[in-house]
Parts: sequence; structure tokens; C-alpha cells
Amino acid sequence: MTQTIDLVLMGIPSPCFVLEEARLERNLRVFERVQQEASVKVLLALKAFSLFPSFPFIRKTLHGTSASSVWEAQLAAEEFGGELHVYSPAYRDEDMPVILTYASHITFNSIRQWERFSPLVERSPSPPSIGLRINPQYSPVETPLYNPCQPYTRLGVSPEHLGNLLPQGIDGFLCHNLCESDSYALEKTLLCIEQLFGHFLPQLKWLNLGGGHLMTRQGYNVVHAIEVLNAFHTRYPDIQLILEPGSAIVWETGFLLSTIRDVIITPNLKNVILDVSFTAHMPDCLEMPYKPVIRTAHEPEKGEVLYRMGGSSCLAGDFVGDYAFSDDLSIGDRLIFEDMMHYTIVKTTMFNGVVHPSIGFLRKDGRFELWRQFNYQDYRARLG
Ligand SMILES: Cc1ncc(COP(=O)(O)O)c(C=O)c1O
Repeated sequence: MTQTIDLVLMGIPSPCFVLEEARLERNLRVFERVQQEASVKVLLALKAFSLFPSFPFIRKTLHGTSASSVWEAQLAAEEFGGELHVYSPAYRDEDMPVILTYASHITFNSIRQWERFSPLVERSPSPPSIGLRINPQYSPVETPLYNPCQPYTRLGVSPEHLGNLLPQGIDGFLCHNLCESDSYALEKTLLCIEQLFGHFLPQLKWLNLGGGHLMTRQGYNVVHAIEVLNAFHTRYPDIQLILEPGSAIVWETGFLLSTIRDVIITPNLKNVILDVSFTAHMPDCLEMPYKPVIRTAHEPEKGEVLYRMGGSSCLAGDFVGDYAFSDDLSIGDRLIFEDMMHYTIVKTTMFNGVVHPSIGFLRKDGRFELWRQFNYQDYRARLG
């Protein structure tokens, strides 16, 4: 467990989410290049990552944020600045006046929602630019949980809803149909938009291509994405292109450190019980589902001891696995779950009253900064 000894010496408590400055900078450099070489603005989607102490680093590169609720909008305005694009499947009447004080752009999910709020928007002292979410009727995403274009989707208007007339006051379209996708899916998305909604494009000021552009994954063809964006810009020079990735900004930029609290031996495998929970702290492992990478672990080969990673909640299914290790695991050993920044910290719960992981920052020079620890009062405050 040599790699983890360093983390103990650094004073990282367990459990703890750790964002790594060097890796964040590496990702931001990719988006800096895309914005320099393509005619596009990039925003951070707060739904994927809202760790606001890191915003001073991110806002040096990105133009602003996208928010999906009144609280995300407030956080974005207070902590990030720049452009603030808000989109929600349906807005609450009581939230709209607040959103109007923060948003530079508001996108509606249906024409009915736009009609409901247009009088309020028009009376606003500084009205935002208004958009509609469109359904391009294409998504490469096979998991229904993440496919916004599945049959009978509630997300976005289809061409038949719009007919030939763009509702008055609409400046832009938002299209979000990708998830951890490549540049060829982006290219196909633009083709579908042109085919289905092309007659509206000359009237638009902006086109937001949502998230799901995994430009920071190894093998993503950034050059091709730049070409695709620039080719669209050449066809429609008056449209400002926007991307609002979340996952890609913090892809592989940090980990969740945990400690083994017990090992339960069964005839076929060893159940490791950790001080983290999959359902409470890494819910996508169960929802998606996927098997997270553990530093120092490998895929088991025949004859190796199997280790199943069990969470600290009582939920029977709060486990993932199985893994093998070159050294035996023991109580007190620390394990590192890789790539735990996007859709983890924002989705955690305090289910079972399990201790919530702390949050910290690993600086480029090796210093560790502890940003947040949680206590009983944090747990209690949400409940009454
Ligand atoms: C409208 C919208 N924009 C942006 C995103 C961010 O997507 P990702 O984190 O996959 O880049 C999402 C994710 O669900 C979304 O729904």
C-alpha cells in the first residue's frame, strides 16, 4: 500500500474526496485550446461539479456556468460569475423572479413554459436571452437513464411542436443529447439539428450543444471537434456556439480516499467493509452501473483471492466488485477510488447517517488543503 502511505503522511483524513490541481489544469488546457481554435464558448455545468472553492481556478478558462435550478444559479452567480445559462425541465413560479436576477440566458423546456413566464421575463429590468430546448431525435447513449432522446422523452421540443414558426422572443436553442461521447457524435448531432430545425437557424443568435463532450478523455479527437465546430460556424456565422460540459471538465481529476474497517471472509471471497458507501458517496456505481477503478487493484485472474468492496450503509446492495490485489488487504489499509469528481460530490447523501467524506485539494507542489469536514450538525440540519 505504498501509494497510500504518502496520503496519510500528507494528513488527508479518511474518507475524503480529493481534487488534484495538476490534473484540473491539464483538463482546462484542453478547453482553452478548443476555445482558441474553434468559435465556441465553454461553460461549466454545475450539475456535474459544483465544488465552488475550485471555481477561481476554473473561471480563468471558462466563460461561465450552466445551472439547472434556482440554487445552482445562485451559487454560480455568487461564486463563479461570467455568463449564467439556466435550464430546467420546468420552473417553479416562485423561483423565476430570483433566477431573473442572476441569469444571462434562460432556456425553457416547452413552449407552454415560455408562454407562462414570458410576461415576467419581459418586465425584468435586464431581460436574459431566451432559448428553447430542442430534441434532436438522436442520441448515441444506450443507457435509458442517460438518454434524453428516448421515445416519449419529456426533455425538449420536437419539430412538430414548433411547426414553421419560432415563438416570439426565442434567441437560441439548447440541445443536450450526449454523454461521455466523442467528436463524431457531436458531428452527427449538428447534422440532425440542421435536418430537423435548419429552417430556424438563420433566426438564432446562439446554439448551446449541452454537455457530454468528453474532450479530456484519452483518444478524444479534439482536432476533429474543432473542425466540426468551425465548419458549422462557417455555415452559420451569426450563431454563437456554446458547450456546457460537466464531466469533461473534471474527468480524472481526483479520487475518493477510504479506509478498510473490516474484512468478512466467505467461502468464495473476502467482503471488505469500507468507511465509504457506494449508494451514499458513489451512487453512479450502482445507478449506471459501473465498476470503479481502485488504485493498486487489478481484474482478478483464476485462483486469486477475490475482494468485494462493501459500503458502510446497511443497504444489501451497497457493494461493487470483485477485485484482486497483489498484497493481502487488512483492516486499516487505505483504498483510493479513482475519478470521483464528476457527479459524485454533487450526488452524495447522508443516508444511514454515514459519515460524509471530507473534501480537499491537492496542490501542484504536493501540499494538501482540507476544504471541508462534515459533522453531526450537517446531518441533522437537513432533517428538521
Ligand atoms: C442540459 C445539460 N447540460 C449539460 C450537462 C452536463 O453533461 P456532462 O456532465 O455529461 O458533460 C447535462 C447533464 O445531464 C445536461 O442535462
